[in-house]
Formats: sequence, C-alpha cells, structure tokens
Amino acid sequence: MDQSYQIDVTSSLISPDISIHNLATTKPIKLGVMASGNGSNFEVVAQAIANGQINAKIQVLIYNNPKAKAAVRAENHGVKSVLLNHRDFKTRADLDRQIVQTLRQHDVDFVIMAGWMRLVTQELIDAFPDRIINIHPSLLPSFKGVRAVEQALAAGVKITGCTVHLVCLAVDSGPILMQAAVPILPDDTVETLHARIQVQEHRILPLAIANIGNG
Ligand code: GAR
Repeated sequence: MDQSYQIDVTSSLISPDISIHNLATTKPIKLGVMASGNGSNFEVVAQAIANGQINAKIQVLIYNNPKAKAAVRAENHGVKSVLLNHRDFKTRADLDRQIVQTLRQHDVDFVIMAGWMRLVTQELIDAFPDRIINIHPSLLPSFKGVRAVEQALAAGVKITGCTVHLVCLAVDSGPILMQAAVPILPDDTVETLHARIQVQEHRILPLAIANIGNG
C-alpha cells in the first residue's frame, strides 16, 4: 500500500460528535441482542458493559445460525443464548413471533440487531416500537440490504462507513442515530474495507446504546 494512503482509523469522522457523548448512562437498559454470525459487535457491547461503560445488561442473545460464533462469545460472557434457526419456521412472521416471545420471556426492553441477517416483519417491530436498533456497514441511505461493502466498492464511491439506525419495516430505512465515515482506499478488497468499517462499528454501536440509555 502506498504510504500516502496510510490512515489513522481513530481520526475517522463520526456524527454526532462522540467526544460530547457521556457513556455513563443513568438508567440501566435490559438488552436483547440478535446476531447471525461472528458476533464482533456483540462482543464490543458485552465488553462495554463489563467495563462499566454502558449501564446495561444483555438479558439474552438470539441467534439463527447454529454455527454463529456469537453464541460462543455469549457463553464466554455468561450471557444466555437461544438458537432460533430460521429453517425451523415456515414463515418470517413465525420466526419473529418466537423471537418476540423469547425477548419477552427474558424481560428485554431494547433490542440490538448486531449482524442479524434476516429480514424482520411487523410482528417484531410492533412488539418493540422504536426500541430496535441495527448496525449496517454503509452510510445509509446508500447501499441498503445485503453485501453493502461490495455494493460500495462496485459503485466506486470514495467514502463509505457504517450506520446505527432504528429499525422499521422497510430494509435499512429507519431513522439514523449515528454514522461513521470510512475512506475507500485504491487497493481495498471487500475484506480490507469491511475490516476498517468494523473498527468504526465497534466505536459507534456502544455509544449509540449509551445514548439510548441517556434518553
Ligand atoms: C457487521 O459489519 C454489520 O454491520 C453487518 O454484519 C456484520 C456483522 O459483524 N450487518 C449487516 O450487513 C446487516 N444488514 P459481526 O457478526 O462481527 O458483528
């Protein structure tokens, strides 16, 4: 990589300005996390809680893919996890009804979709109105849906990033809470770019949750 393209990941633009945000929440939040894969975002949230940066508790992790590493991470943090394999449900709404029941059983008041790779239905949204957030690897409203990092590379944009937003029925379209910008470098691949986007995801997701705790 050309020396001139070395970037300092900590200097990326984040809005709203994270330096003015107080991580110490006054009111504890009971979180339910939904994840499908690696779970690195689950991990940073669990760590922020363990470090006392967020006044919250993860009541339950719901995962839909039996191989999701997120479940191993949950076990390491002493968080209960529940597998709801989408293949066991006839419809998306059936799966979501079971998700709602599981979240309620665990007394969840706020839901974090941290790499949840299934479309959600009105069943879930109605059960937690304005209380579900999602992290997405693009600067929404650009590059909604699957393979957002690939989409950004294919479009030839020079800056992409990640977004934390409230979830509504239309995919990746709810009100935006926080974004971080990430430059695209000339020799980026999906993997290198996604890795740099994830550095920023791991900064903004805990902050967005802390902001929720602060009202
Ligand atoms: C994250 O990059 C997240 O933005 C993305 O999946 C990845 C999960 O990573 N989510 C979506 O694309 C949702 N449309 P993780 O499993 O390491 O947290």
